[in-house]
Amino acid sequence: MPLTDKFGRAITDLRISVTDRCNYKCIYCRTGNEGALYGDLPFADYLRMARVLASLGIRKVRITGGEPLLRPGIADFIRELAQLRDVDGQPLDLALTTNGHLLAGLAQPLKDTGLGRVTVSMDAVDPDRFARITRVPGGYEKVLAGVRAARQAGLGPVKVNCVLMRGFNEDQIVPFGMFAREENVIVRFIEFMPLEEGRVWSPNTVVPLDEILQRMQEYRPLVEIPHAHSETARRYRFADGIGEIGIIAPVSHPFCGHCSRIRITCDGKIRTCLFSVWDHDLHELIERGASDAELADFIRSVVQKKEARHHIGEPDFVPASRTMVHIGG
Ligand code: GTP
Ligand code: 5AD
Repeated sequence: MPLTDKFGRAITDLRISVTDRCNYKCIYCRTGNEGALYGDLPFADYLRMARVLASLGIRKVRITGGEPLLRPGIADFIRELAQLRDVDGQPLDLALTTNGHLLAGLAQPLKDTGLGRVTVSMDAVDPDRFARITRVPGGYEKVLAGVRAARQAGLGPVKVNCVLMRGFNEDQIVPFGMFAREENVIVRFIEFMPLEEGRVWSPNTVVPLDEILQRMQEYRPLVEIPHAHSETARRYRFADGIGEIGIIAPVSHPFCGHCSRIRITCDGKIRTCLFSVWDHDLHELIERGASDAELADFIRSVVQKKEARHHIGEPDFVPASRTMVHIGG
């Protein structure tokens, strides 16, 4: 029996956060304090959770943080994940989301572990702006080198995530279009969601899909290309065939009806939605000596509680019980 929620959505994608520490303090994400609120677990615990989840129908695993490359031993963990098989005996689709700061030296070792792809978060293509956003000097060059190293190592298609905030970095839309073409990466613009520590989100802070498209079309015409049913991003290629961008529009065009994701936090809780107001303690079961069958039963019951949709911008919106850095994106 595949893992299916009460709305009939098949749960095939798992995101595991391995730490909520981050070496960046992006101003739209963090207030500036050091960040790690929840302790992380031994890799063996995440591995066991992933193995049980793979036996239930998970096919894709994305490793997130905080910043996952801050954790020593991450490559060995990915090597073990790469040994897992899905219900059809196939290797899992393994991806990692990183801020890219430490990627240049790790791209090839990560590729060698069996990692499939990386997504790098970058919110500006200008070194000064980048430093102002991340509040870390000299990061841009490192991240750019990381993106290039990932491409070189074959961790592709390399995706770059850019969160857009009104009055903050919307002037980066066209430069990122150029970047996608020049660097041969897929740049995905993300509508800002109310998941930040500073609680600055309002509908006015969102740069919506239509506007992103319009600005990019003024630069160069785009052609929409098909995207997978459960994919977060709408995809577009430039009409001249050079370069691809994506737009992730959870605010203006929610995609909850096709959601295929669950998440494990760094402290071993299952989250059924980015916007969940509670989580479900899988690690506690492991601590109590539960068998794999008991873990599987718990996971199945938790999946039944998956929320229908988020309520961003609605009067009844209740903020998630954790901010993005403590969930993992
Ligand atoms: P691939 O399709 O494997 O490339 O992965 P992905 O598109 O899930 O990649 P990524 O981890 O880069 O996710 C992109 C961004 O989409 C996240 O950082 C979030 O901002 C947003 N996102 C992902 N999942 C959800 C979700 O379930 N709900 C909402 N509202 N946003 C999401
Ligand atoms: N809204 C949308 N995306 C966000 N991210 C972090 N905070 C937010 C937010 N409030 C993005 C990061 C990273 C991914 C994990 O989520 O930039 O690319």
